[in-house]
Parts: sequence; structure tokens; C-alpha cells
Amino acid sequence: MIKPFFYDITLRDGNQSLKKPWQLSEKCTIFEKLHELNVQAIEVGFPASSHMDFEACVKLADMAWDNLVVSALARSVQSDIDSVINSIAHANIPRVHTFLTLSPFHMQYVLNKTPQYCAQRAIEAVNYAYKSIRKVNKNAQVQFSVEHFGDCLENIDFVIATLKKVVQAGACVINLPNTVERTRPATFISLVERVKNALPDDVIISLHNHNDLGMATATTVEGYFAGAVQLECCLNGLGERAGNTDFAQVAVALHNNGIDVPINLEKIYEVSMIISQMSKIKIYEKAPLVGPEALAHRSGIHQDGAIKTKDMDFGAYRPIKPTLIGRDDDEKIGFTSQSGKTAVFEIINNAGYPITIDEAVRLTPIIKAISEKKGELGVEEILQVYYKEILDVSGAFEFVFFKLISGEKFELGFKFKGEQKQVMGSGNGPLDACLDALKNAGFPRKLSFYKQYALNEDKMGSGATAMSVIHLIGKNGEEIIGRAIDQNTARANVRAIFNALNQVYK
Ligand code: KIV
Ligand code: ZN
Repeated sequence: MIKPFFYDITLRDGNQSLKKPWQLSEKCTIFEKLHELNVQAIEVGFPASSHMDFEACVKLADMAWDNLVVSALARSVQSDIDSVINSIAHANIPRVHTFLTLSPFHMQYVLNKTPQYCAQRAIEAVNYAYKSIRKVNKNAQVQFSVEHFGDCLENIDFVIATLKKVVQAGACVINLPNTVERTRPATFISLVERVKNALPDDVIISLHNHNDLGMATATTVEGYFAGAVQLECCLNGLGERAGNTDFAQVAVALHNNGIDVPINLEKIYEVSMIISQMSKIKIYEKAPLVGPEALAHRSGIHQDGAIKTKDMDFGAYRPIKPTLIGRDDDEKIGFTSQSGKTAVFEIINNAGYPITIDEAVRLTPIIKAISEKKGELGVEEILQVYYKEILDVSGAFEFVFFKLISGEKFELGFKFKGEQKQVMGSGNGPLDACLDALKNAGFPRKLSFYKQYALNEDKMGSGATAMSVIHLIGKNGEEIIGRAIDQNTARANVRAIFNALNQVYK
């Protein structure tokens, strides 16, 4: 397949639909971003529309890199075409983009002209554009658009006959806009195929799909597979009404379907955020690929699949690896009453608190019950349950103090069923000495595992900096996991032992 040719229309169709069209400096910033994305063509503006747009076209044509096609829009009138030539002809590859409707409805009710008149005007406009711009730049091109091509089902033969003459008059690109999306993608594409098959092979067929019914990406992607090589897209799907075809969606959909897309995909996310800021149009939460929620999972089944495949290129519940478009690799796991144990495990573990799957299973119904009332829970709310259920286990024991006497000797103070005890113990470090003291008090226990974690962030504001996790061997050989946090690392160890004992002695 021929590589897709990305023709960006953010600075024209996108710009013309903004509540406050961009100033020159803003257009320059976006132009540079389009360079970083490596688009093949940019429609820089509609120079006849305003002095500001004319100036922007001049400047952006100046800034164009060598193999970029710089295009500007003109109605099929000489003065518009002259504006385009006067503003962009100095680019290395300038393109006059002129258009006229050939749709029966539009010719009759908007232009109030006959089809013959419109056909003649289109041919003359292209002829004029070609001759005029070629006089000043031998690389120059002409593109013709059939405005409202999607409404040309009933007169497609007339459209094709006109386009053949438009091509003879000098147009090398025929753009077929779905100016207002009304039909099924398949119906629209069948018209595109008719045109493609009727025109010489070297004519580039282009698509410019508006998104009125939300199918512009599908139409553009399928249109490419039907032979349209030039794809006109807008960053963030900006454009008149419901916008134009979304650039990122088309680029990624083609990439995912095995097409060698000549775009720096890893720039997509950053550019999308910049365009959102500059257009003052928020990216809606559920926007594909770049929306804040596009990588969020809340149901237990999805969370389980997402977590199990999170390091793989192909994810169970995502279309891409987020880094493909330069997005952080952070599929969001949000906890609601619909979520499950994998989420509990993941959220607590990611917050830096060790937990086992068995413990996550135990905490899940408790957290779900809270969520049933509150909706999605934040990490802190989940950790509160962890603190209460895992760290603050009350039982027969109560830790009171632990102090170094000398060398390897420590004194341990605690209560057992309310009765105060003070015992000495010695050992290689506080943990050993505490176990020795407990043995001396009649509670012998063996340690099978020990680990201390630094708490990077004190999520609960307790002042704790360390967490100790210990495993004791129970009477029947079972493992009891004890945990504690404290500002003092030795005390965290000792309290972790009491946490384990309280799970046995109630
Ligand atoms: O939507 C449209 O038909 C257009 C043309 C000017 C290409 O924007
Ligand atoms: Zn348009």
C-alpha cells in the first residue's frame, strides 16, 4: 500500500471554527508542533478571509521545511486564488486549494446556480490557479475539492465528468469532502471508489470528513484502504460543528492495522494537550487515546486483565501501549463498588504498602461496602481500611515500650490481657532481642521472614517513615504476617511482632 499522506487542516478548518481564531504567534507554535509530528502537508489558512490570516499564511510559508506541501484555501474566484498565490507561492511546494460545491442541494438552494455553471466555474478556477501559480513556482500544485461530495449520490456521474475536466485543467489532487456527515461510511466510500476508478492513476484522491455523526475516523480509515492516499485531519478533531476527522485516531488506527504511518506517533499526546490549551477546548474524559479516562479501568474483570497484561505491548483492555503516543504508562485503576481484589492489591501495593493477595481478598468486601455509598475511592480512603484492618489489629497484646539497656540487652514493656509485663531480652539487634524477651515471658515464637521498607510518602500523615514486615511461625507451622509503621525503625520491627501476635491472641 502507498503510505498515507497526512494533510493537516488544524490551522484552517480547525482555526475557522474557534471562538477566538489563533493569532500569528499561536499559528507559528502549532506549525512547529506539526513539524514535530512530521505531517506531509499543512493547510496554513484561508488568506482571503482576513488580513491576519493572510499574514499568517505568508509567515508559515516562510517557515516551511523543504518537502512540506504548504496549502491555502480559495473559493473558486480569482481574487481568492490571487490571495493564496500572493501569500504562499514562495514556499518550496505551494498548493492552491480551491473548492466549489457540486451537490444538487447546495447548487440549487445555496448558490442558486445550475450544475453547468458550477462545473464551468470549477474548471476555470483550477485552470486559472494552475497557470498563475506555475508562473511563479514550478513546484506548485493545485487541489480541487468538491464541497458536499457526500451529498452527490444522485449526480455522481456528473461529478465524475466534471472532475475529469478539473484534472485536465491542472488539479493533481482531488479532495472529496464529507462536508456534513449524513450517510454510512460504506455508502460514502462507494462514491470515493467510483471517482478513484474513473480518474487517471496519478491523481491523488483525498478525504476530508467531518464528524457530524461521529464516524469520521472510520470513514477516513476505510477510505484509505479503498485507495484515498491523502487524509485531511485536524488535531483533537477540531473543526466546524462536531469537527473534522481526528488526526491521532486515524494515525493510530492505521498503525494498529499494519500501515507504515509516516508520523512521529510518540508526539501525539503532548501535542494534543497543547492544542487543547491553545484552543480552550477541553479533551472530553472519554476521548479515545488522549482522554483522561481513556486508560481507566473500574470493573473488577477489566482491572484483572489490565493488571495481568500491563507490561505487554498488547493489553487485554487497551488499544495501544500508552507510550506509543507519548503518554505515561499509567493505566488508571479506579476503585468503585464494581471493582475487585486485584485492584485492592494493586492500589495498596502501588502506594508502597505490602499486602498479600489473601489480605486483598479479605479487605475487598469492606472497601466495596464503603464505595457503594461514596462512589470511587481515593488511595487514602483505601489505605485507611488497610491501616485499620492490617496495621491496627487489636488483641490480647499491647506494646508499651522497648529500650536498649546496654550492648545486646533490651528491655521490653507490654501488656497481656491488661496485665503489665516488663522483661529483658538479648540478641543480635532489636528484633532478636524482642523475640528473646517474649520467649522469656512465655510466648516463644520463631521468625521466618523480615523486611523493612522506607515509606517514601506518608500517605496518612502519621509521621511514619518505615514499615516492617515480619513473618512468625504459628503453633501449627502456619505463617503469621505482622506489619507496623513507625518513625523509629527499631520500634517498627518490635511493633510488627505485636501486630502478628494479636492476630493469634484475641
Ligand atoms: O468541509 C469542507 O467541505 C471543506 C472544504 C473547503 C474542503 O472544508
Ligand atoms: Zn471542512
